[in-house]
Amino acid sequence: MTEAEAANRLMRLAKEIARHNRAYHDRDNPQISDAAFDALVRENAALEAEFPHLVRADTPSKTVGTAPSSSLAKVPHARPMLSLENAFADDEVAEFIARVRRFLSLAAGEAIDLTAEPKIDGLSCSLRYEHGKLVLAATRGDGSVGEDVTANARTIADIPQRLSGAPDILEVRGEVYMAKADFAALNARQEAAGGKIFANPRNAAAGSLRQKDPAVTAARPLRFLAHGWGELSEPLGHTQGAAMARLAELDLPVSDLLRSVSTLDQALAHYAAIEARRADLPFDIDGVVYKVDRLDWQERLGQIGRAPRGGGAPKLPPAHAATVIEALDIQVGRTGKLTPVGRLKPVGVGGVIVANVTLHNRDEIARLALRIGDRVRIQRAGDVIPQVVENLTREVTRDPYVFPDHCPECQSEAVAEEGEVDVRCTGGLICPAQRIERLKHFVSRGAMDIDGLGEKSIVEFAELGWLSGPADIFRLKNHRDALIGREGWKEKSVDNLLAAIEAHTGFDPARFLFGLGIRHVGAVTAKDLMRAFSTVEALQGAATGEGAEVELSAVEGVGPVVAEALADFFHEPHNRDALADLLSLAKPAAYVSTARTTEWTGKTIVFTGTLETMSRDEAKAQAERLGARAAGSVSARTDLVVAGPGAGSKLKKAEDLGIRVATEAEWAAIVASA
Ligand code: IVH
Repeated sequence: MTEAEAANRLMRLAKEIARHNRAYHDRDNPQISDAAFDALVRENAALEAEFPHLVRADTPSKTVGTAPSSSLAKVPHARPMLSLENAFADDEVAEFIARVRRFLSLAAGEAIDLTAEPKIDGLSCSLRYEHGKLVLAATRGDGSVGEDVTANARTIADIPQRLSGAPDILEVRGEVYMAKADFAALNARQEAAGGKIFANPRNAAAGSLRQKDPAVTAARPLRFLAHGWGELSEPLGHTQGAAMARLAELDLPVSDLLRSVSTLDQALAHYAAIEARRADLPFDIDGVVYKVDRLDWQERLGQIGRAPRGGGAPKLPPAHAATVIEALDIQVGRTGKLTPVGRLKPVGVGGVIVANVTLHNRDEIARLALRIGDRVRIQRAGDVIPQVVENLTREVTRDPYVFPDHCPECQSEAVAEEGEVDVRCTGGLICPAQRIERLKHFVSRGAMDIDGLGEKSIVEFAELGWLSGPADIFRLKNHRDALIGREGWKEKSVDNLLAAIEAHTGFDPARFLFGLGIRHVGAVTAKDLMRAFSTVEALQGAATGEGAEVELSAVEGVGPVVAEALADFFHEPHNRDALADLLSLAKPAAYVSTARTTEWTGKTIVFTGTLETMSRDEAKAQAERLGARAAGSVSARTDLVVAGPGAGSKLKKAEDLGIRVATEAEWAAIVASA
């Protein structure tokens, strides 16, 4: 590589590594695997070694983690929070011991005692106790300045609020993590609630600890294990082992796999013992941490960069195995996303039998050039979700896998939007995989607002075969007698439900349109569309006619993405049939705008943060009555941002763009005087 090429590559690596660092640390949403990230870091280090004069001021090799950037308060660490040297192969334990011996000029015969313990895949946290009371909890941040997570840490049962017999000042350093089983249960709950799905326990732990609202953290199953300390008013002991034992005596949780070892063989044996138990450990680990036991030696060893010379952490290899993909199935999620799942010839990986792998999306299959029958290498990443790492089959005699263009559940067309990798079913109104979500949405408060038809009843009626699509809601009256006989239902509750449904004829078409659950058509867009087209039929005509996308995009508030989603939806014959059926039973009135003409007519308003005297829906309705649009995001075209407590990025963006910002009280005054 020439010098110019190296400089260029280092510039790109600095940018790319910083971007992945932000995705991982700030947003808890990694875009690449740990292995791929480590490869970038190693490539950067290798180039810097080859071209030391090209090392950049912003080199990723000098930063630990990433500077804190969330809305949590920043707190400087009394002692820096260091990290351990990465990319330390298991055969380098001997090398680590030899380096320590050379640095301290110890005789060949002198034993170097070490502690060895699992390296937990969580996030580091510093707990400061003053006179036995927990006064501060902070994340690592960039190692010098972390984020204040005290209120959140207080909700973690493993973290004592008080210690008795502790030094006056004691900073405990350790790992906040989520146990594997708790992680799986949390993701299942998140999925059921339509919330964020976490990639792995580490991200779930980070996302849960770094919350603005401690109540959210309290609802998450976080744990803590101590592995060291920061500032101390008096030493905890003369050795690492003794100091850790002292922390345990103070009732701080310490790993029960922490051992003292005094020879290389013992060190490697404990490494092997931890590796062997890896699959059964309740939490994810990504290595074993060795520390020089004598603290006076640790002191003399000092640090290289931001890593102590007296500590090292060989990474455990991710658990791998080779097997055959026997079939590729497509699963349709509750929101219509098609996810390919590889069915494997079952194989043991790190102590667990794996029979299925997620392949994420169409691009992943293309990347691996995967065909049914291929031999693949799989890995249990973060110890939880198996992944295909590489395709071991090179010959190409079998047919390539063709990703379906129809939904396997309902045979509607399945499409990927421009620039998107996810393929989605467009048969929203009839697709059984999406049924429950769609029905819930249709009856929800912002849509048809049908009282008394909650998720439980929807599931019950769907299981009875009474509800396949929204039109069936208006046929529930045919099941009145059967329903009265069922557990939990009485004549009165059934009649109330049926009356609530009947009350929905001649209703607002914008709510109806929103209730159809067309991708990208939210409540505001639905109103914009109905203001322009007045009826759903007219909209359908426009969406399926000549020049549909041009005509739709001309509507204020509608861009090409919405236009494409409308065209996809109305082109699908299954949806057209279901919609015609629905309209024959429950016909919305023509759209009537309740807006007055005021100085706010045609203006765009964004509400953000918590509103204290009114609901978000009420505030939006007020805006609409003044003739304004209530939008979800701030742009240069926003005219006013109403910000309540807790407003974050939208408020900041408004300030950056110089947009008028009002408090809730000021908004109330605007409404009263308009
Ligand atoms: S000792 C010098 N022990 O791994 C830092 N760290 O890069 C002292 N970690 O961010 C770390 N388990 O949060 C130590 N048993 C353990 C650990 C552990 C996990 C984390 C730590 C640090 C990273 C090291």
